[in-house]
Amino acid sequence: MWRLLVVCLLLGTLEAVDRQNFKTCDQSSFCKRHRAVTSPTGYEVVQDSIKINDTGLHALIKNKDTTLKLTIVTLQDSTVRVLIDENEGALRKRYQPLEALVEREPKQQKVKKTKEEASVTKILTTDGNRVVLQHKPFRVDFYVKDKIVSSINAKETLHFEAFKKKVLLTDREKGFWEETWKDIKDTKPHGSSSVGVDIAFVGAKHVFGIPEHAESYSLRDTKAYEPYRLYNLDVFEYETNSPMALYGSIPYLVGVHQKRSVGALWLNAAETWVDIDPTTADKGGLTKEVLDAETKPRQVPQHNARFYSESGLIDVFITLGPQPNDIFRQLAALTGVTPLPPAFALGYHQSRWNYKDQKDVKEVHEGFVKNDIPLDVLWLDIEHTDKKAYFTFDKDNFAKPEEMIKDLSEQNRKLVTIVDPHIKKDSKYYIYKEAKKLKYLVKDAKDAIYEGNCWPGDSTYIDFLNPKARKWWSDQFAFDKYKGTSKDVHIWNDMNEPSVFNGPEITMHKDAKHHDGFEHRDVHNVYGFHQHSSTFEGLKARSNNEVRPFVLSRSFFTGSQRTAAVWTGDNKADWAHLKQSIPMLLSLSTAGLPFVGADVGGFFGNPDEELLVRWYQAGAFQPFFRGHSHQDTKRREPWLFAANTTDAIRNAIKTRYAFIPYWYTLFYEHAKTGKPVMRPFWMEFIEDEPSWDEDRQWMVGNGLLVKPVLEEKAKELSIYLPGKRQVWYDWETHKARPSPGAVQIPAELNTIGLYHRGGTIIPKLSEVKLTTKENHEQPITLYIAVNQKGDFANGTIYLDDGESYSYEKGDYAYWGFTFKREHDYLHTITNKNLDKNGKFDSDVYIDKIVIRGAKFYPRNAHIFLDDFSPEDLDFEFNRENFVMEIANPGAFVTREFRIDLHS
Ligand code: GLC
Repeated sequence: MWRLLVVCLLLGTLEAVDRQNFKTCDQSSFCKRHRAVTSPTGYEVVQDSIKINDTGLHALIKNKDTTLKLTIVTLQDSTVRVLIDENEGALRKRYQPLEALVEREPKQQKVKKTKEEASVTKILTTDGNRVVLQHKPFRVDFYVKDKIVSSINAKETLHFEAFKKKVLLTDREKGFWEETWKDIKDTKPHGSSSVGVDIAFVGAKHVFGIPEHAESYSLRDTKAYEPYRLYNLDVFEYETNSPMALYGSIPYLVGVHQKRSVGALWLNAAETWVDIDPTTADKGGLTKEVLDAETKPRQVPQHNARFYSESGLIDVFITLGPQPNDIFRQLAALTGVTPLPPAFALGYHQSRWNYKDQKDVKEVHEGFVKNDIPLDVLWLDIEHTDKKAYFTFDKDNFAKPEEMIKDLSEQNRKLVTIVDPHIKKDSKYYIYKEAKKLKYLVKDAKDAIYEGNCWPGDSTYIDFLNPKARKWWSDQFAFDKYKGTSKDVHIWNDMNEPSVFNGPEITMHKDAKHHDGFEHRDVHNVYGFHQHSSTFEGLKARSNNEVRPFVLSRSFFTGSQRTAAVWTGDNKADWAHLKQSIPMLLSLSTAGLPFVGADVGGFFGNPDEELLVRWYQAGAFQPFFRGHSHQDTKRREPWLFAANTTDAIRNAIKTRYAFIPYWYTLFYEHAKTGKPVMRPFWMEFIEDEPSWDEDRQWMVGNGLLVKPVLEEKAKELSIYLPGKRQVWYDWETHKARPSPGAVQIPAELNTIGLYHRGGTIIPKLSEVKLTTKENHEQPITLYIAVNQKGDFANGTIYLDDGESYSYEKGDYAYWGFTFKREHDYLHTITNKNLDKNGKFDSDVYIDKIVIRGAKFYPRNAHIFLDDFSPEDLDFEFNRENFVMEIANPGAFVTREFRIDLHS
């Protein structure tokens, strides 16, 4: 049966997702049981059980069947952790995916004050927030500045299935001790151990997050529908606008409010479903608390999110913001950031399933040179291996990998090869032999080696839950093991949900066994995370921690950002999937994973030339920019089309390259602040509520607004300019527009809607060469967009060698630029070293300055270098659109200057 499936997969003959392959909530017994909980489950705090300590408290809570252990811990930076586990004497240990956190034990914070009253216990945190444990019914409320912002169990849906001894199977317990779905039995030897509770976001107009779903950015009401599912799955031909689970899961969402946004991380790696209920505070169970804060509950929006997980425990981190920047910093403190990527990774990547042989590879990358199109990375999919044995090269088609890689290296390019987690069952394959001998393979419910079917046919799976197996996996990337590779080879981890073609829902059986006695059901969503993390560690180690690795993963979990970039898997060459990529990437960015992209052009099917161009234009402004396609599609290298199509694609890719200094700076800043590089509007324009759920436009950093053309045969492109009392400049024409507002521009083949936000300065390459390496240290143009008042703009730039870790030892430069109105007759442009620890000496100079919104009439301009005598500068001033251009100011980015503009 599965062979047929594989054939279908390969032929790509199916038109759309086969929903039959995947469960609905109703078909998943625990989800169904939790969703059926509609009346209060009756938990209350056990009298006299509360024990207060320095950083929080412990207590017991119980209802008529179950007693549970509650822990509340206050953490640094307005973060509170609430843990609910079984009481002492549990029959089994529950899995906690602590590896997803930066520190397994996040830093605690001493509480300021606690107060025990008859019906509540109050904790006042050092940050000035308040946590209130209500005793009966059990509930935990969170207050920021005396306003309730969140609550756990306000709907009293806490439902916790404690492990129990197996007695007689009763009807009531159907699905509790075993479950069969589509002829595949889940033996559930330990019975069910699911957990679930509701979390309220009081005052939140929208909730965002819980990727990965092909859905709108703002999470929608699931009451009359399916809950959002978080279960890493290989979904063939996924649909748009669907809450079905996809390849990765980040159980984090944020409730957005003008003044008090709140985040919640549900740290659980088992299958999870999330119901979203948008309501108002008068119906949300918290009426009294909202009233206490002198607000009318009926007018206070509220979102209740109910999480149900198949196993594990309730471990919730509430981040109390209150501003967007705080929210991103607090999440980053828990789950980490993407370390600065190597610069090449921000360039354009060309992939296909598959480039056939070395000749093909050569022709393709030379084709980019011939056609004057920038390219940094060429990708090799599964067919490059010796019959799907990863870490090897096909003996005929890729007989001389060293030569191929050298050829790429000489042109400043990189290679990415694919390495999947399924291991071909072949006694002659060294990886299989070793992994088997060392007992690093996942076992089945009967303790035999787990076998499934994937690309190589019969396959086994590395148990990445075992730290020794992870170390061993990392070691396989050493140059003397992965023969033929060099430091210019980076890695793509695919199929790591894991994909098992003949498994339930195309994945691993839940009763399969991992390290330390855990079942697959406990760890499913963190499996891929462990594969890509150990790949990353391996790449770092093979160069003695000198070269920054690049790893792309399909599956992910919270924390994945620390070691991987992610793409949205097997999308389709149609307009709906192009549009869908935007909310998907925004959700990932919101959930702390910034280095994300979608297959440009669409994986399945053949895009027509118009769609392909539009996709390149969108992709050029998304963090990870790769063209990729299925093996049955027509070849799509950019020069295989009509000349105007090739020109438009070249244009889009060159535009991407021109902005790389800005992207690189944003990635550096992300690592410092947790702020994503591709940003949803609410993050930058919290004052502009109608813009929060925008899913056709986005910001790159704080300065650049992007709206690609997303409609077929569009004549016009309409762009919303968010914010209040701000000014925006059309990137091309410099034309100024006030916000909030909308503009329409003609949608020509080369049109990408780009607006520059007043008050910001963006560095851009003046000219573009064909690789990031050749562009390194090339001259830049400084684009200054003056703010609405006409008196200020600022921006930053980050520079280093683009590839090594020497920036960690001070080999970097982080500088700021400021435009300022000093008085009626003088405006200045200055630069400043923002981080004196950075010692990178760069020769990057500014060969042009463009000032948009220069609302003064400049008479002369001069530059001061090192405070010596001023030098006159040539400039042009356009009185119609208030643009001033200074050519060759003679300024270097990392040497102090001041330019005086006299009017
Ligand atoms: C999966 C990946 C796709 C890849 C293919 C073959 O479908 O998502 O990108 O090309 O496998 O490896």
